[in-house]
Amino acid sequence: MKSLIVTGHLGFIGSAFCTLFCKDYRIIGVDYAGPGSMSENLAPDVEDVRGDIADEPAMEALVRRVKPTAIVNFAAETHVDRSIVGDLAFWHSNVLGARVLALEALKHGLRLVQVSTDEVYGDARESGSAWTEDSPIAPRNPYAVTKGAAELMLGSYFRAHGLDVLITRGANTIGPRQFVEKAVPKAVSCFVAGKPFPLYRSPARRMWLYVDDHVRAVRAALERARAGETYNIAPQPESEAYTHEVIERVRQIVGRGEIELVDDRKAYDLRYWMSAEKASRELECIPRVGLDQAIRTTVQWYVDNPRWVEAAHKAICSFASSP
Ligand SMILES: NC(=O)c1ccc[n+]([C@@H]2O[C@H](COP(=O)([O-])OP(=O)(O)OC[C@H]3O[C@@H](n4cnc5c(N)ncnc54)[C@H](O)[C@@H]3O)[C@@H](O)[C@H]2O)c1
Repeated sequence: MKSLIVTGHLGFIGSAFCTLFCKDYRIIGVDYAGPGSMSENLAPDVEDVRGDIADEPAMEALVRRVKPTAIVNFAAETHVDRSIVGDLAFWHSNVLGARVLALEALKHGLRLVQVSTDEVYGDARESGSAWTEDSPIAPRNPYAVTKGAAELMLGSYFRAHGLDVLITRGANTIGPRQFVEKAVPKAVSCFVAGKPFPLYRSPARRMWLYVDDHVRAVRAALERARAGETYNIAPQPESEAYTHEVIERVRQIVGRGEIELVDDRKAYDLRYWMSAEKASRELECIPRVGLDQAIRTTVQWYVDNPRWVEAAHKAICSFASSP
């Protein structure tokens, strides 16, 4: 069985990848148990290594011990609001961490899958067509800037050193085990607890990707993509919806709750809009889960797992925002 190092395996999307594919690969997870992580997210049969991907000696020792065929990098600081309060941890994990993994991949001849985001494109509110992989990147918030910086760095390593790297740009993802700071789980928590959900005032559109579709595409990229390529990972175009529509649907499914309009976050992007035609053509990657099913399955998971939700709320208090 092939071995994979999967970083960020205690976070939302990394844990979904491990859960779906732990029977197909020997997976060694690396996570520094930061914001977004939960020890409850550990998937079966995954070796749980606690460590910082930016710690070069630790990553070197791990790669030597494990001898993986590839590294799949989900580890990142991901919460946009935290990046606005302080972005140092974002540069550390998202750029310096990716650099250490790239150097290890180069040294040991490994493939590196860099899991990136549609947020690197910036705001599509004025765009006349959906972004393709050839569209220029123009990230606007500090989180997205670090993800874009990592992409540019890895692209240069591909051209300068022949790094076997590929990049996936995933759309806004929902599903089980997403940290309760993020919109959909936060909405479920607020509605269940009888607290108003704070919704940004300006209508914003997102392409809502179910997490299993996201990780199936990452796996397809790992196994089939050409080195140096970038792939947009998006749901079917009908899964684009306004955030207020999705939150209202969550409220209906929970059966109660209030929505309170609040001032937009700074650097608030009003639309992310991508075409995933290249992934469907080259990776044969077709998303299976439509918007309504994605919302239903997601909401039901949080309703059915109150102990996980309670543990996540306790964990938030222990993760102070960086200065
Ligand atoms: N959630 C989305 O909608 C979305 C969409 C597209 C792309 N992405 C990307 O997917 C990846 C995973 O996102 P997520 O939503 O699961 O995030 P998450 O915050 O739930 O999980 C990230 C995990 O990375 C770990 N981590 C962070 N820095 C680390 C470091 N230096 N060393 C070791 N571990 C570290 C955290 O502890 C956490 O467990 C990220 O790279 C993100 O940019 C997310």
